[in-house]
Amino acid sequence: MVNLTKEQQKMHDGEMGEAARQSMEILAAMGKIYGAEKMIGISSAQVSGVSYKTIGDAGLEYLQDLVEKGAKTTVPTFLNPAGMDTSQWEEMRIPKDFAEKQIEILDAYSKMGIMKTCTCAPYFIGIRPKQGEHLAWAESSAVAFANSVLGARTNREGGPSALAAAICGVTPEYGLHLDKNRTANIIVDVECELKTTADFGALGSAVGRLAKNKYPAFRGIKSATEEQLKVLGASMAATGSVPIFFVENITPEYKVAEDAERMPFTDHQLEESRAALDSNEKPQLVTIGCPHASLEEIREVAAMVKAKKPTCEFWVCTSRKLKEEAERLGYAKTIQEAGGRVVADTCMVVCPLERMGYTVTGTNSGKAAKYLPSLCKQRVAFGKLEDILYR
Ligand code: F3S
Repeated sequence: MVNLTKEQQKMHDGEMGEAARQSMEILAAMGKIYGAEKMIGISSAQVSGVSYKTIGDAGLEYLQDLVEKGAKTTVPTFLNPAGMDTSQWEEMRIPKDFAEKQIEILDAYSKMGIMKTCTCAPYFIGIRPKQGEHLAWAESSAVAFANSVLGARTNREGGPSALAAAICGVTPEYGLHLDKNRTANIIVDVECELKTTADFGALGSAVGRLAKNKYPAFRGIKSATEEQLKVLGASMAATGSVPIFFVENITPEYKVAEDAERMPFTDHQLEESRAALDSNEKPQLVTIGCPHASLEEIREVAAMVKAKKPTCEFWVCTSRKLKEEAERLGYAKTIQEAGGRVVADTCMVVCPLERMGYTVTGTNSGKAAKYLPSLCKQRVAFGKLEDILYR
């Protein structure tokens, strides 16, 4: 049984409205299942279940019902990507029926006081929790980044539990909120050189598959940018269910169990992982920014396509805030002149690509490579950008 404070008990008993009651009931039930002794305050929540493609009419009704019951968030709360760019969905050929439902979903969240950030990389727009801060984040790659790269503490929440935590301002204290659980139980000795972001994606895809729900600690990675770490974490979270990882001399925490298993990761495995993700076809569309691109990544793409025009359509997926920054700095114009588009609020996986005439999509992310076939019926061209943009 989770011990509730007086105020939490009031919420549980319905004295603070039906939405708070329903939310506290979800949190208390989770706490009971996972053996939490109490609730802890969170500094922010990040809610998934935003695209109409993933939540459908049932999800929209659930949200509208919560709005009617007076749901209001009590901590800063952000949204995961939606199914379209809200300001250029017509140019992107998003079907109108889809767009209308998507707008209703965003409106429902907005009525609860949630910011329409629609990004899976909130840490690139200034939402950077400090080491040790407790959160209730839902997007798997954002969870991996927050725990591993920032040293903040969050379990991998589902959409409803993140929303319940946002409404109550607390989450049950179990799992990665506790020191004792933040320990690696598999060591990966990286014996190959990781040269590109796609290499980090291929490493993450392979390790996620092997680690399953174990927590990996990497040795032998000499340097890694935040962009590469985000792709590593996203890829492991997609092929396994890895909510935290450690990189020796790079991540703020690095704790390994004495009886941790060891596995090498060689040139041969890297090549094998890359090859398994790539159909070797020429993509009709290359999507960059999974998780959402940083300003530095947008700058790099702009420089690359300015020097040589790609041979296919391409999108750079990012947050609205960074899209506006890219417009201000001229990167978006350069990208547009080269046949591309900077796309905000959405990503290649949650927008309806399969209804837009695409069948082969390129990516340098292990996470997108994993989900494009199942969620968008795409064949995948996987590789570094210099390869897939000019195949
Ligand atoms: Fe983000 Fe979509 Fe990739 S939500 S992590 S860009 S699959």
